Amino acid sequence: MFQQSTSVNVKNNKSTQGIKNSGGPVFYCEDVSVQFGEIRALKNIQLTVERGEIIFVTGASGAGKTTMLKLLSGHQEPTSGKIIRPNFFSNKKNLFVSNVFQDLRLMGKYTCEENLMFAYDSNIYKDKAEFTSDMHELTRILGIKDRLNLKINNANGGLQQKVAIVRSLLTRPDILIADEPTSSLDTDNAKRLFDVFNLYNAKRGLTVVWATHNKELIKSFTGRIIHLDNGRLVYSGHACFI
Ligand SMILES: Nc1ncnc2c1ncn2[C@@H]1O[C@H](COP(=O)(O)OP(=O)(O)OP(=O)(O)O)[C@@H](O)[C@H]1O
Ligand SMILES: [Mg+2]
Repeated sequence: MFQQSTSVNVKNNKSTQGIKNSGGPVFYCEDVSVQFGEIRALKNIQLTVERGEIIFVTGASGAGKTTMLKLLSGHQEPTSGKIIRPNFFSNKKNLFVSNVFQDLRLMGKYTCEENLMFAYDSNIYKDKAEFTSDMHELTRILGIKDRLNLKINNANGGLQQKVAIVRSLLTRPDILIADEPTSSLDTDNAKRLFDVFNLYNAKRGLTVVWATHNKELIKSFTGRIIHLDNGRLVYSGHACFI
C-alpha cells in the first residue's frame, strides 16, 4: 500500500496543500534525528504541523512512530537537529498538549467513570454540570455510556482505550498526541473515535497527531498522513495518494 511513497518529496510536498488548517505552526522539526545506541530511530525528519490539523502517523512496527510522538510531546529530545514545540509559537497563551500512550496509565482499581472524573478541573469548567455534559456527550458517541461503572481492571482493552481518550479530551487539550489509540478496536469503533476527534477539532480547534496501524481507517481518512519507514519520513500528504 505504501510502496511507491518513497518517491514523494517530503520537504516540498505540494500534495499537502489545501488540507484544512488555520492557526499557524504548532510543531516544527528541522533535520531531526533520534539515536538509541546503534539504532537510529528517526532520521533527518523535516516536519511542520499546523494548528487544527488531524494527522495520522503510519508505518510498520519499529518504523519510529512512538519515537516521533514522544519527540513532539517533549518526552524525547533529538540527538541532532532542531525541534520547536507549541508554546514557542504562541505568545498569547500556553497551548496544552495531552498524551495518550500505548500504556494507558489508567487506575485499575477505579471504575471507568471515576477515572474520567480525575480529569475535572474547576479552572477549565464553569461547574461540574458542564463537565458531566461533556463526559456524557463523548461516552455516548463512543458507545460506552452504559459501561462506566465497570472497574478498569475488568474492562476490555477497547473500553480502556476509549476511557483513556475521553479522559484526555475532558482536559480540553489544544493538542492531542495519541499512540495507537485504536489497536484494540475494530474499524467501526475506531471510526467512532475519529468522530470525537473531528467533533473536538470543529468545536475547539483541537490538533490531533495519532499513530495507527489500522489500514481500513487510513483508507477512509481525508486528512494528512505521515508515513515512516525505518526512521525516515517518506511520505507526507493525503491518504488517497498512497
Ligand atoms: N528507549 C529505546 N532504547 C533503545 N531503542 C529504542 C528505544 N525506543 C525505541 N527504540 C528503537 O527505535 C526503533 C523505533 O521504535 P518505535 O517504538 O518508535 O517504533 P514504532 O513504529 O512505534 O513501533 P510499534 O509499531 O511496534 O509500536 C525500534 O528499532 C526500537 O527498537
Ligand atoms: Mg509504537
